[in-house]
Amino acid sequence: MEIKGKNVSIGQNVIIYPGTIIEDNVIIQDGAIIGKQPKMIASSTLTLHERGPAIIGEGSLIGTNAIIYAGTNIGKETIVSDAAIVREGCVLHERVRVGKHAIVEFDVVLHKGVRIQAGALIGEHTIIGENTFIGPHVSMALDKYMMRLPCNILDKITIGSNSAIGENSSILPGIAIGDNIIIGAGSVISKPINSPGIYVGNPLRKVRNLKGSELR
Ligand SMILES: CC(C)(COP(=O)(O)OP(=O)(O)OC[C@H]1O[C@@H](n2cnc3c(N)ncnc32)[C@H](O)[C@@H]1OP(=O)(O)O)[C@@H](O)C(=O)NCCC(=O)NCCS
Repeated sequence: MEIKGKNVSIGQNVIIYPGTIIEDNVIIQDGAIIGKQPKMIASSTLTLHERGPAIIGEGSLIGTNAIIYAGTNIGKETIVSDAAIVREGCVLHERVRVGKHAIVEFDVVLHKGVRIQAGALIGEHTIIGENTFIGPHVSMALDKYMMRLPCNILDKITIGSNSAIGENSSILPGIAIGDNIIIGAGSVISKPINSPGIYVGNPLRKVRNLKGSELR
């Protein structure tokens, strides 16, 4: 039996798995699924283990047909938009936004105020710092050699605070991007970037330093 806070609104055809914790003033829209356990078939190369309950924090909104897996903690006033998927073991801190059709893979940490735009793919174990913006259809890879060699899941991607990744950019496995870094649309990030500034293209090049209010 799920634990419901006060003033919780639950739409039609919603599935909430046992143990799920739903705090006050949460809105869960039609067709959402909360607390789904990860499952693989016996021959899969990936071993997944059972997770604890999902927690939906106070004042959050889970959109139509969104799926929140077990063991994921959705922070206060966070929005997971229509048809977005947040896999198991993720921590979304307060006021995070996950856009429509975005996919957040397992064990990801999104700090306060992170915005993930529509259709983005956030790779397993990625950590994203406060107020960072991930543009539409940005993609983050984890498996560098695409199943030809063993995948090192420790090759996680990290992105600092107050950075912004332009739409349709690709971030390759194990890359660390620092604070206050802006990446232009359609870029390929194959090397770590530490120094604040605007970078574009493939190969990536620095265009300029940040000025005035661009630097946060
Ligand atoms: C990166 C960006 C912020 C740069 O803006 P800017 O500082 O005003 O830069 P400019 O437009 O003056 O361009 C500077 C140079 O970079 C090039 N450039 C700019 N953006 C580029 C991009 N995405 N890819 C490749 N080159 C780019 C320009 O052609 C120009 O080249 P030049 O010096 O050879 O003439 C912007 O172009 C961009 O890509 N923004 C991302 C938008 C986005 O994804 N929004 C999501 C909203 S939901």
